[in-house]
Amino acid sequence: MKPAIVFGTRPEIIKLVPVIRAFKDRDVDPLLIHTGQHYDYEMSRVFLEELELDGIDYHLEVGSGTQAEQTGTAMIKIEKVLLDERPDVVIVQGDTNTVLAGAIASVKLKIPVAHVEAGLRSFDRTMPEEINRILADHASEILFAPTDEAKKNLEREGIREGVYVVGNTIVDAVLQNAELAGKKSDVLERFGLKPKEYLLITAHRAENTDSRENLERLVEILENLPMKAVYPIHPRTKKRLEEFGLLEMVGGIGNLIVTKPLGYLDFLRLEKNAFAVMTDSGGIQEETIILGVPCLTLRYNTERPETVKAGGNVLVGLERERVLKYLRRLMEDRKFYESMSKAPNPFGDGKSGKRIVEILLDLYKRGELNVRSSRFI
Ligand code: UD1
Ligand code: UDP
Repeated sequence: MKPAIVFGTRPEIIKLVPVIRAFKDRDVDPLLIHTGQHYDYEMSRVFLEELELDGIDYHLEVGSGTQAEQTGTAMIKIEKVLLDERPDVVIVQGDTNTVLAGAIASVKLKIPVAHVEAGLRSFDRTMPEEINRILADHASEILFAPTDEAKKNLEREGIREGVYVVGNTIVDAVLQNAELAGKKSDVLERFGLKPKEYLLITAHRAENTDSRENLERLVEILENLPMKAVYPIHPRTKKRLEEFGLLEMVGGIGNLIVTKPLGYLDFLRLEKNAFAVMTDSGGIQEETIILGVPCLTLRYNTERPETVKAGGNVLVGLERERVLKYLRRLMEDRKFYESMSKAPNPFGDGKSGKRIVEILLDLYKRGELNVRSSRFI
């Protein structure tokens, strides 16, 4: 079988490495296509190096742009590669513009798409990611849903064929790298941090960072934290903070360590040892419940409701008082802290990559890896 894997951003690299490793374990060498949606060293190459992902076959250098520019450029460049290479299946992961571009380019060439992390829904169609998720799922032939809840979302939209609940490859990634992070990363020592005595913060979601009002609310939260905190700034957020004249203010907050984005081993070690994490990231909502660290999500909805139901994640939005209320409760109420830390991981056993590869190899062997004319028969 000749699979192609299309990816372009930080979380896609992290979550697809377990699939690539599982293919290699079965002596299949997938074609690797990096769109270049993320291109800074800290957003891309550092992960390729740390996760030992060499042998990228195509670097498409799509870069940044408006939604349509980025998606359109990626689609045009991916199509050229697919026409030359004619893989048996194209694998995409998640909800980025790279995913949408890969899925549309592929299905229109009648190459079946396998969507890893299918069926997630925030039910907020103002998010670019929600549009990408819905369209990618409907363009896909094989849908690897991480949970039963994701499967149900697909059923609600009439997608019942080709759906496999396999867990989330983020569990594979965390299990494969947490121990290594403990051994190799010196991030706590570098920043002078003690385990469970600091918060870890990330924020990059367009709805939080693209409006001055929301970014100011984020900054207000950062100014009022009751504990030391580390804040690796995503390039989108850095750009907006600069644009709105807020970057210096953030840099000057006393108990906040502001840093560029970190490599995976540093980030995992920081995450594992944090008192709590505040984030609007999807992947970090997943990792915190796997690592047993309380998560406060700086959003009003989530496509990972399993984490909230399990008790490991609270949606606090950008409400300063609500954020501080939960932080105080975590600091003062031992039972509450324990209950959040011990919330069960809903994302599987860390064998998702292997499961995905076995399913694809089996479909291929049976001659069932095709674009069907209808899902409804
Ligand atoms: C994208 C995904 C988002 C995902 C995130 C992971 C979409 C619509 N969004 O958001 O779902 O959670 O990646 O981190 O696909 N930039 C740089 N250097 C880089 C990359 C980006 O400076 O290496 C800056 C550019 O100014 C760019 C901005 O960040 O315009 C946003 O980048 P973009 O790839 O459009 O979206 P993300 O916010 O990274
Ligand atoms: N991450 C990282 N360094 C950082 C911030 C995040 O390695 O400075 C990792 C994090 O561990 C997780 C992934 O990046 O696996 C999440 O990516 P991001 O928040 O950019 O995207 P999302 O998951 O929201 O799509």
